[in-house]
Order: sequence, then structure tokens, then C-alpha cells
Amino acid sequence: MHPCLEKILLNEDEIVARCKELGQQLTEEYKHNEQPPLLVALLKGSVPFLAELIKHIDLDIQFDFMDVSSYEGTESIGDIKIIKDLDCSVKNLDILLVEDIVDTGRTLKTVKTMLKNKGAKTVRVVTLLDKPDRRVVDIEADYTGFEIPNEFVVGFGLDFNQKYRNFPFVGVLKEECYK
Ligand code: XMP
Ligand code: MG
Repeated sequence: MHPCLEKILLNEDEIVARCKELGQQLTEEYKHNEQPPLLVALLKGSVPFLAELIKHIDLDIQFDFMDVSSYEGTESIGDIKIIKDLDCSVKNLDILLVEDIVDTGRTLKTVKTMLKNKGAKTVRVVTLLDKPDRRVVDIEADYTGFEIPNEFVVGFGLDFNQKYRNFPFVGVLKEECYK
């Protein structure tokens, strides 16, 4: 195991199995929709989750990316800024926002509002991880992979200073490695 890891919280098999369940659930939810949803993934953390999830969605979906930022190290700082906007219009589309983790909820709330203001028909959220204890804004994901305790996690897209995103599992970082 990597020397900066305290423990593994979710192993690869568990994550893949849950992505399969979520993919099947989303297929059911959207299959009678007029149009398949546009998946909007938030860079960079949601990329491994998006890649696994879409294998299990049996619909003609499309996806696009946005990059917003509010995070430096392990503490949230202030408002989010748009680093990369969507390539396509969201007007009258059913949007499924794909997140790696919902923490304070600020990112989600802001991006959701932004997409609605741009004319999206509906905006729902699927997140791999949820840390409910950390919430400061009143918002919930519509579909959640796993609820986790208030610990700083890395892997499966989640990073510490841009590292460890490539771990195929979600692990807890040792405090001495980020303090
Ligand atoms: P908010 O607070 O806006 O933050 O819900 C969501 C974003 O915060 C990052 N985040 C983490 N990243 N390990 C990480 O690697 C964590 O434990 C963690 N908690 C929050 C993440 O980028 C997410 O999109
Ligand atoms: Mg993120």
C-alpha cells in the first residue's frame, strides 16, 4: 500500500459493482424520457467515475465537461470560478451532473443554478461519494454511490494536490501527508 494511505475505504470491486447498479438505475429512470440525458462531468475528479458509470447506462447519452474550482489543498475557499465551460448548449436538455464527491455542497449548488439559468430543462446529480457531515449548503445528490465519513479521501479521481487520482480504489490519506 502507498505510504501516504491510512486505509482503503472502498475497493475497486465495490466501486465497479455500485457503478453498475447506478447505471442500471439511471437507464430505468431515463428510458421513457423524450431525450436521453446529457451527462455533465466536473473535471478532473469525476473522470474515472464517469468512465465506469457510462459503461452501464444503456441509452444514447452524450457527455461534456466543465471545470470549476474552489479547492486548494484540503480546505474549501470561497466562491467557485469557471476554468472550462461546456462546449455545447444545455438549452431544453435534461442534464445529469456527474460529481466525484459532494462535500460542503457549494460546488453543486452553484453549478446547478448556473445550468438552470442557461435554460436546462432538468438538472439532476449523480455523485460517487457523499460526505453528509460536511454539508453547509442545503443540497442533495439525486443518486449517490457511497456515503462516507468526514475523512479526506483520495483515489478513483480524487486527489491531494493533483496526485493519487489514478488509484483504482478510494483510500483515506494519512494526516501527516497533508498537514
Ligand atoms: P464542495 O465543498 O463544493 O466540494 O461540495 C466539492 C469538491 O471538493 C473536493 N473535495 C475533495 N477532494 N478528497 C478530495 O480529493 C476529499 O475528501 C474531498 N472533499 C471535497 C472535490 O474536488 C469536490 O468536487
Ligand atoms: Mg471536484
